[in-house]
Amino acid sequence: MSVLVESLKLARMVDIHCHILPETDDGAVSLEEAVAMCRAAAADGIGTIVATPHMFDGVHTTPEKQTIIDKIKKVMEASGGCVRIVPGGEVRYSYEIFQEAEIPDSRIRLNGTAYMLLEFPFQSVPPNIEMTIFQILNAGITPVIAHPERNKRIQERPTILADLVERGAFAQIDAGSLTKSFGPESYHAAKKMVAAGLAHFIATDAHHRDRRRPILSAAAAVAADIGGVEYARAMVQENPEALINDRAIPYQPDPDIDALTGKKQKSWYAFWK
Ligand SMILES: [Fe+2]
Repeated sequence: MSVLVESLKLARMVDIHCHILPETDDGAVSLEEAVAMCRAAAADGIGTIVATPHMFDGVHTTPEKQTIIDKIKKVMEASGGCVRIVPGGEVRYSYEIFQEAEIPDSRIRLNGTAYMLLEFPFQSVPPNIEMTIFQILNAGITPVIAHPERNKRIQERPTILADLVERGAFAQIDAGSLTKSFGPESYHAAKKMVAAGLAHFIATDAHHRDRRRPILSAAAAVAADIGGVEYARAMVQENPEALINDRAIPYQPDPDIDALTGKKQKSWYAFWK
């Protein structure tokens, strides 16, 4: 798959989920580490990073928009502009989403677009999530669900994700899930989502320079083995490029539920037979 990796490096990938801002959340601990992450990302062929600090997660202080912009400027200057960084956030499922949605150019929007990176708790899926997704869409925000393959409930019942995608959400899987950094459950769930055409983005969700690194090409190569080169490229280039420019997501495969559940669905014909 080295031809794919080389071509990705030439065309430059876009990473829509990265904890690159120094001293902001549990990501980069210093400006120096953020710069090292920029260099690692650039060497991997990443041209643009969306800075996505945790927001409304009950643990970290949600940074103000201006703070995010100031820190991006600092990191880009210190790293010589080897990657472009644009503002965003990883937004925990919370009531604040609806307050923020009313603010033009709110910090929850990825690069000021209509897209938002939405994080669920890791052990569960919020009740009535289908209705909430509808309400978020109605508020003018399109949710991209962050790393559904790492959610225990979705691992057990992946059709939950299919339902949310059918209702208009998108799915972003973590590069580390495809390269087995998060254990077998996340790995197998991520593979199934790619095989089923239910993943729309692969992002690094990078936190540091030495672990959870900002590397996309290795995961893209795994995805290409499962779903083909065209789909893999779309998840790290065409789709995230469209997202940060507030365009429609160009590559949306028809979901294959059989590939997701690992079993053939009963047709009515088979039922009555
Ligand atoms: Fe994250």
